[in-house]
Amino acid sequence: MNRPHQNKKATQTFSVEINGTKCSAETGETVFNVAKRNGIDIPVLCHDDRLAPAGACRVCLVEVEGQRRLQPGCAWVVTPDMQVTTESDRIEKHRTVLYNLYMADHELDAAGLPVETENNNQLRELCKTVKPMKLAPVNAPRDARPADNNPYIEFKPDLCILCARCTRYCDEVEGVNAITLANRGAETTIATAGQRSLIDTSCELCGGCIDTCPTGALVEKKSPQNLVQLDVATTRTTCNFCGVGCQMDLHTHNDRLVKITSPEPGQTLNDGNLCVKGRFAFDFVHHEDRITEPLIRGADGQLHPASWDEAIAVAAKGLLKVKEKHGSDSLGFISSSRCTGEENYLMQKVSRAAFGTNNIHQCAAT
Ligand code: SF4
Ligand code: SF4
Ligand code: FES
Repeated sequence: MNRPHQNKKATQTFSVEINGTKCSAETGETVFNVAKRNGIDIPVLCHDDRLAPAGACRVCLVEVEGQRRLQPGCAWVVTPDMQVTTESDRIEKHRTVLYNLYMADHELDAAGLPVETENNNQLRELCKTVKPMKLAPVNAPRDARPADNNPYIEFKPDLCILCARCTRYCDEVEGVNAITLANRGAETTIATAGQRSLIDTSCELCGGCIDTCPTGALVEKKSPQNLVQLDVATTRTTCNFCGVGCQMDLHTHNDRLVKITSPEPGQTLNDGNLCVKGRFAFDFVHHEDRITEPLIRGADGQLHPASWDEAIAVAAKGLLKVKEKHGSDSLGFISSSRCTGEENYLMQKVSRAAFGTNNIHQCAAT
């Protein structure tokens, strides 16, 4: 995988000039990365720090001294003393035409901008920065998978700009290759092998393609489609499905959990990724069958609500009874990677100190 900005052999430090400012750079870095580090903004759409550059959207074109054509800042590797210009009349003209061409085959709102979507719509934000040219609408029919009955992910082909972030994410980050660019010309679209439903492919339903999509062409089926208009609170927490410790943002509306996303790439250890459980398996939170208080089985064989103190006392009594009758090593304690380190420590303390056995295990240790 070619990742110029992550070139492990990068050892040489030199300077380049961006918009007349001297910037420090390293071998293998791209114009975009050097500019970003030096506080110079270059707009991007098909770029994702986690992916190898594709140079697909042409949003980031810049002038490079000695180059006749504008070059993609996200993919162009810097060399010593290179001179780059990121803002000029030529670049402004290029961006205006490019964004207007994108808008020509997109559904627009009353303000003449690409419709607002649930996901981070970077195309809409970029289009706000140029003058509208009011080009004639372009009819570019792109296919969606017919009747894709997967439970989580919907593809809206009309919002797609074919930046291939989703397909590259699926390949380079997930290593799954469930989706690909298919067809040619105006009919190019995102497809699966044989246009099968995602559920019938190797797709792991991780939803990472949704997060990386810069236009809202990939959306979550589970969440309300009008979240942008609702009053939604966001709370950062740690996923408790396994012991990896992925960070996640819980989106709540009227005290109901409506969506889960990952923090932006680069912010937390999961680097913008979540698995299918972390992202989509949150129905249990408000499920009516969920046990919300301790239950003790009574003499009548039925479960009855109890306080935590009562439940712990009954469990301790039962365990002590087994110990007295069969000895300490007849007991075994299994803890969980879903618990904190402190809770796991206490569990082994209960096992060893309170019940006198070393039969203590934790699922992540297997
Ligand atoms: S959900 Fe994950 S595995 Fe499935 S297509 Fe998207 S990125 Fe690939
Ligand atoms: S679905 Fe989104 S991420 Fe994939 S190519 Fe289209 S615009 Fe890009
Ligand atoms: S961000 Fe550089 S070509 Fe798309």
